[in-house]
Amino acid sequence: MKTFIITGASNGLGAALAKLCLDRGFRCILVARTINQELYHKTTQTSGRLTFVSADLTETNQLESVMDEIISHLKNDVDELYFINNAGMVEPIKRIGELDIDTFVLQAKLNYLAPAILTDSFIKRTQGYNNKKIVVNISSGAAKNHYEGWGAYCSSKAGLEMFTRVAGIEQQREENPAYVISFSPGVMDTNMQKVIRSANETDFADSARFHTYKEKGMLRSPEFVANILIELLLEPELDNGKFYDIKELIK
Ligand SMILES: NC(=O)c1ccc[n+]([C@@H]2O[C@H](COP(=O)([O-])OP(=O)(O)OC[C@H]3O[C@@H](n4cnc5c(N)ncnc54)[C@H](OP(=O)(O)O)[C@@H]3O)[C@@H](O)[C@H]2O)c1
Repeated sequence: MKTFIITGASNGLGAALAKLCLDRGFRCILVARTINQELYHKTTQTSGRLTFVSADLTETNQLESVMDEIISHLKNDVDELYFINNAGMVEPIKRIGELDIDTFVLQAKLNYLAPAILTDSFIKRTQGYNNKKIVVNISSGAAKNHYEGWGAYCSSKAGLEMFTRVAGIEQQREENPAYVISFSPGVMDTNMQKVIRSANETDFADSARFHTYKEKGMLRSPEFVANILIELLLEPELDNGKFYDIKELIK
């Protein structure tokens, strides 16, 4: 059975991915600090296809144990394995020189260190697994473009994108390669966008543009984005290490 491990699955894109996977009959292991109530209520109807792992992914020294717990939930009938590093935060939205350091450190742990360490742990623990296995690191246009006030966010996503590229290239030499890719979902109508709109123009120079996205209905729904990502993952061939941008996938 196709099995999806999804971090940040309590809200936004992660929850939309989880719902879609369950509706399609796949198995899901969902990681976050809290549980989405709508998903929780699906536990009984989905006949053992849904497992929750409670974890704060900023607790960097617990990440290896989190991966051990995830792996312990895998069933023997897994024929395709997907690991989506989706959890993320955008704060602190502040110019460099004014950053709140505690929030900056948390963001670096959640957006960069957690997916990087979990990718490493996943590859280590699935080396002998020779069916299709894919790691997706959820990226952003901010990995490629600079925005004033997003120094922390842009740099964490850029770091993760380079990590993903290196992992993808390395895996090409492996006997049982994992595919490791970045996926940029574009702007979505989630809590993260609410946080972005709550920033003022002094801290975030592009603030007005993001208000316009919401007012003009230009934010995509997480359900739409989830569908595009799942269709991509079910394709037979992917380019290892590639940065897939939703804009290039929408026909
Ligand atoms: N929204 C956009 O426009 C947009 C654009 C480009 C890229 N992205 C990227 O897309 C991904 C999903 O974003 P989203 O908009 O869906 O975000 P969101 O609605 O804010 O959801 C974030 C998810 O991350 C989880 N999370 C936060 N802190 C965590 C922690 N310390 N440990 C474990 N889980 C944690 C949250 O769950 P708990 O609070 O329950 O832990 C939640 O499920 C992110 O990587 C983001 O950078 C978003």
